[in-house]
Parts: sequence; structure tokens; C-alpha cells
Amino acid sequence: MRRLQKNLSDIEPLLYDSQEFNAPKNQEFLKKKIHQLAATSEKVQHNPTIINRDPTVRFVASNFASNLQRADQSFTAGKTDFSRYQLMKVTSSCVQCHTRLQQGPESNAKRPETFLKKMPVVDQAQYLIASRKFGAAYDLLLISLGQPEDENIFSWKSDKSAGLALQIAVQYEQDSSRAMNVINKIQGNPTLPYYIKTKANNWTASIARWKAEKKKPVTLEDYRRLLASGQGEIEAMRVIPGVLKLLSSDLPSQQLGEALLLAGESYEIVNDFSPMDLHENYYESCIRNVPHTPTSKKCYQRLEDSVRMGYTGSSGTSIPVDVEVWLKSLKNLSEKF
Ligand code: HEC
Repeated sequence: MRRLQKNLSDIEPLLYDSQEFNAPKNQEFLKKKIHQLAATSEKVQHNPTIINRDPTVRFVASNFASNLQRADQSFTAGKTDFSRYQLMKVTSSCVQCHTRLQQGPESNAKRPETFLKKMPVVDQAQYLIASRKFGAAYDLLLISLGQPEDENIFSWKSDKSAGLALQIAVQYEQDSSRAMNVINKIQGNPTLPYYIKTKANNWTASIARWKAEKKKPVTLEDYRRLLASGQGEIEAMRVIPGVLKLLSSDLPSQQLGEALLLAGESYEIVNDFSPMDLHENYYESCIRNVPHTPTSKKCYQRLEDSVRMGYTGSSGTSIPVDVEVWLKSLKNLSEKF
């Protein structure tokens, strides 16, 4: 992980400056660094102490490794812009693994990374979370949510900033007051778009229920009830670390299926914030782990709905043949019990 950190911080200053990234003097250096990153990510994918802990880490590790491999190959093939775009997506894998639950060290290193200032604020925050500077990322996002919305509405800047800030406060820290600070910033900023204010109202209601809770959720049933109580982002971000801890223990098969389904449903709710489609990995894993059960049937239904939606556009739904074949085999596994 320290190596990942080092390689990332070497590349990042060039990533947001297309002139620097394409400058002939930097090509050898970039080629070497990108290749090292790809090789390290391959090792992460096969490192048993990192991988065994929970399914999210496993799913993200494979995503992470294939994105970096693609970046490495396209850079070598001279497609540097594609490679650059691919590399920009890499930090969201670091973020997804590090915020999944509170574990591991937090960095308070104050050394300012001067290149950060050149990057869009959402990317700065992602870089800080990748470097495990959760506190610094949260502070930065809060400041940004309080500022006038100056960018095009389609940049989704405030949406992404709110999502990351909640990922830190709710999912990672499980701290209702820090979550409320995020919402207060949104509600106090008249320039933010209407849809995000509507979301903020729902989050406020979820946090009020959270603060009024008499007992912390512990069991799978508690987490199931918690998700059902609101079906929103706050509930989902509270359920994820809890269900991941349960999944790291030895669950009896019926509970394993239920836990994978619940994790899938929770990740599906937050997928707009960090679109990695982890929920589909969870539904598939549910079907394979508890085949031919009522739970696997539910998992299949959700998987099929999500996949179909992904292939649906203005001209209807068109699913590639290989995807149809894959769905069909999972359907067979999920049925007949
Ligand atoms: C597949 C999941 C995964 C990905 C992707 C990932 N990490 Fe990590 N990282 C972990 C885990 C697991 C730990 C241990 C703490 C924990 O459980 O969260 C960790 C810890 C760390 C640490 C502190 C501990 C140490 O080993 O020194 C650093 C620094 C770090 N990661 C940097 C990065 C950077 C930078 C990236 C992206 C380029 C990244 N990581 C991507 C899973 C991941």
C-alpha cells in the first residue's frame, strides 16, 4: 500500500495537466510509473491478507487491477489520453476500499501537496481519501459545499462532494453529528440545485431517526430493519460497514445469502455516488453461494433488473449475447428449490 501511495503521488501532479502529461520529457517517467502501479495492483489482488477480509475488497481489487492494466496497455500503445482518463478513475477504487468501514491507520501528515490546488475539488478529496487523510478531505468538502455553485450543473460537483463527505462521516466514521454538518452546509447554500436540497431533506429525516435510536444495530435482522426504515443513502451507508463485518465472520449459509443480498441492496442505493456497480457483484455472489434458494431467487431478480437497466436507453433495451448467456446460467442456478 505504501508503494501504491508513492506511485500515485508521483503521477498525480501530471494527471490534471494534459500538456504536462503529453510532454515528451515526461513520457519515460510516466511509462515506468504507470507500469509499476499496474504491477502493484496485481499484487493487491493476490495478497491474501488484504483480500480475504471481505467481499468489497475482493470486488474492488479486481476492478482496480483491470483499470490499471488498461491504463498501462493504452499508454504503451500511445493512446495517452485514454490512459490519462483511465488513471483519473483509479483513485475512486482507493476511496471505495478505504471508506468501506473504519479500519487501519489514518494519516495526519501536514505536508501540503502543492499540485492538489490545480485539481478539481472532488478529485482533490478523492486523492486525500486515497492517502487516508480522511479529516483533511472532509474539511475540504465542507468548505466546497458552502461556496457558490459556479460550475455547470451537469458537472454534478455538489452531488459528488456531498456523496464523498457522507461516505466519510456516515460510512467511515459512523458519526451522525458530522453527517449533519454536511447537510447544514447544503441547506445553508442558496446556490445549490433543487434536487440536492430535496435529498438533504430526506437525509435530515434519516439522521433524526438515527439520533433517536435506543439501541445500536448489531445483528443481520437489525441491519435489515435499518435499511427498510428509510431506503435512503444514510441508511445504506450505515448498513454497509455493519454487514461487511458480519460477512467477515463465519455465517451459516442461510444468513450468508441474506447478508450478501442486503449488502447488494445497500450498495445499489449508493451507486450513483460512486458508480462501480458493486451491487451486481454482490447479487452474483449471493446466487453462487446459496444456489436454488428463495434468497438466490431474490438476488437474481435484482441482478437482472439492474443489468437490464444498464443496457436500456432511448431506443429500448439491447443486451449483448454474452451477457444474456451469463444471466441465463445464473437464472438456472437461482431457481428450482
Ligand atoms: C482492494 C482494496 C484497496 C484498494 C484498491 C486500495 N487500498 Fe489501500 N488499503 C486497503 C486496506 C484493506 C488497507 C488496510 C486498512 C483497511 O482495512 O482499510 C489499506 C491501507 C492503505 C494505507 C495505509 C496502510 C499501509 O499499508 O501503509 C495506504 C497508505 C494505502 N492503503 C494507500 C492506497 C492508495 C494510494 C490506493 C490507490 C492507488 C489504495 N490504497 C488502494 C485496501 C485497498
